[in-house]
Amino acid sequence: MAFKIVIAEDEDITLKHLVKALQKDGYLVDGTQNGADALQKIESDHFDLLIADIKMPGLTGIQLLETIKERQLDLEVIIITGYGSIGSVVDAMKKGAYDYVTKPFDLDELLLKVGKIRDQKLLKKENVALKAYAGMDKKVSIIAKSASMNNILATIDGMKDSDCNVLLTGETGVGKSLLAKIIHFTSRRQGMPFLSINCATLTEELLASELFGHEKGAFTGAIKTKQGLVEIADTGTLFLDEIAEMAPNLQAKLLKVIEEGEFYRVGGTRPVKVDVRFIAATNQNVRSIIAEGRFREDLYYRMNIMEISIPPLRDRRDDIMPLCTYFLEKHILSSRKKISGFTKEALDVLMHYSYPGNVRELENIVERAIILEKGDVISPASLPQTIKMFQIETIEPDRVKTIEELNKEYASKVLEMFGDNKSKAAEVLGISRTSLWRILKEE
Ligand SMILES: Nc1ncnc2c1ncn2[C@@H]1O[C@H](COP(=O)(O)OP(=O)(O)OP(=O)(O)O)[C@@H](O)[C@H]1O
Ligand SMILES: [Mg+2]
Repeated sequence: MAFKIVIAEDEDITLKHLVKALQKDGYLVDGTQNGADALQKIESDHFDLLIADIKMPGLTGIQLLETIKERQLDLEVIIITGYGSIGSVVDAMKKGAYDYVTKPFDLDELLLKVGKIRDQKLLKKENVALKAYAGMDKKVSIIAKSASMNNILATIDGMKDSDCNVLLTGETGVGKSLLAKIIHFTSRRQGMPFLSINCATLTEELLASELFGHEKGAFTGAIKTKQGLVEIADTGTLFLDEIAEMAPNLQAKLLKVIEEGEFYRVGGTRPVKVDVRFIAATNQNVRSIIAEGRFREDLYYRMNIMEISIPPLRDRRDDIMPLCTYFLEKHILSSRKKISGFTKEALDVLMHYSYPGNVRELENIVERAIILEKGDVISPASLPQTIKMFQIETIEPDRVKTIEELNKEYASKVLEMFGDNKSKAAEVLGISRTSLWRILKEE
C-alpha cells in the first residue's frame, strides 16, 4: 500500500531534509513552504498524512488542522512546533492532531511516529477487508457434468492467476452469481473480500453512493464521509450483477476506475486509488443493449476481456440428474424426511422439462417435491403439473409422436390436473365433452 505524505514547512533546509529522509524510508512525499499551497494539495489528491509547521505564511499548521477536521478528510496530522511551546501543542492536540514533534527534531522519533500511523492505517484497511471476508459464504460447490459446464470450469481454472475482468452472460438462474464466486475463490484474491451489488435494485444516486461512497455534505443527509464498495473491495473482487441496468453516467465512472485505478467519491475532489477486479453479469443480450445505447461499448470492451456465456439448462441436460441429486441432498437436511431419490418416471419428467427459470427453477421444484412427497422416493405426483405438461413439448428424434398421440397425452394430463372432471377439462381445452372423449379413446 502506497502511503502518501505532504509536508508543509516554511524553512527551506528543514523541508528538504524531511522530504529526503521520508522518501528514503519508502514514502511518497510532496513538500511545500506555504500553508495555502498545502491545503490545495490535500484537496486535490489523496494523502494519508500531513506534517505541518505550526507557524507558516498563508495558512498556519493549526488552521490546516482545523480545516481537515472540519471537512472530515481522512488524513492524520503531525504538527511541528518551533519553540516547544506547551500552549500551542495542547491546542493542536485538542483540535485532533495525531501527534507533534518539536524543532530541532529527532529524525528517528519522527520516522517512528510516521511508521506507527502507516501501520494503523494498514490495519484498519485489513480490518475492513477481514470483516467483509468474515461475512461471506465461502462454501461454494458447483455441479458440472455436461461438456459445456466443464469447458467453463476449465476456462476459469485457466485464469486463476490472472486479474482480468470477466463478463458473465446467460439467462436468469443459470448460475452467473455462483460462477462469480467461484472465479473469486479460485483466484489469487481469494483471501480478500468478494463484494457484490445488484445494479438493478437502486436508483442512480443511491447506486453511485453505494459504489463510490461520498464525502461529508455531498448531498442532504450525507452527514459523514462514507466509503463505497469500490473502496472496500480494494485488493479483492467486486461483482456487479445486472450491469446493463447501470445508468450511463455511472458506467463512465466505472470505466475510469477500470482504466486508471482511481475514482472520486460523490462530492469528492481527491481521487482515491484502488486495485479491484471486476466481474459483471447480465441476463440480457449484450449486442442488443449496446445497440440500444444502454450499455457503453467502451465499458463492454473493458469488461469482456473474458466473456463467459453460460448455456441454459435445457441445452445441457447432462447436468439435470446430478443437480436433482445435489438439491435433494441439500434440502433433505432441513426437512427431517427420509427420501432416498427419484422414481424413474419422476426423473423422466425432470429430464424433459424446458426450465425457463434454469437451475433456480430446478432447485425450487426439488425443494417443493421434498415437502409434498409422502413416500421415500420422489414420484411424479410431487412434481408441479405444469412441468408434466411441458414434457410433451420436447421432441426426441428417435421417438417422434403423432399429433393424435400428443393430443391424447395432453388431454389426459389436463384431465388429471382437474381431478378427472371432464366438463372442466373440455372447457379449458376449448373443445366439447364429446371431442374430449374421442381424443382420449384414440388408439
Ligand atoms: N451448476 C450449479 N451447481 C449447483 N448449484 C447451482 C448451479 N448453477 C446454479 N446453481 C444454484 O442455482 C441458483 C441460481 O443460480 P444463480 O443465482 O447463480 O443464477 P444467476 O444466473 O445469477 O441468476 P439471475 O440472472 O437471476 O441473477 C443458486 O442457488 C445457485 O447456487
Ligand atoms: Mg444472479
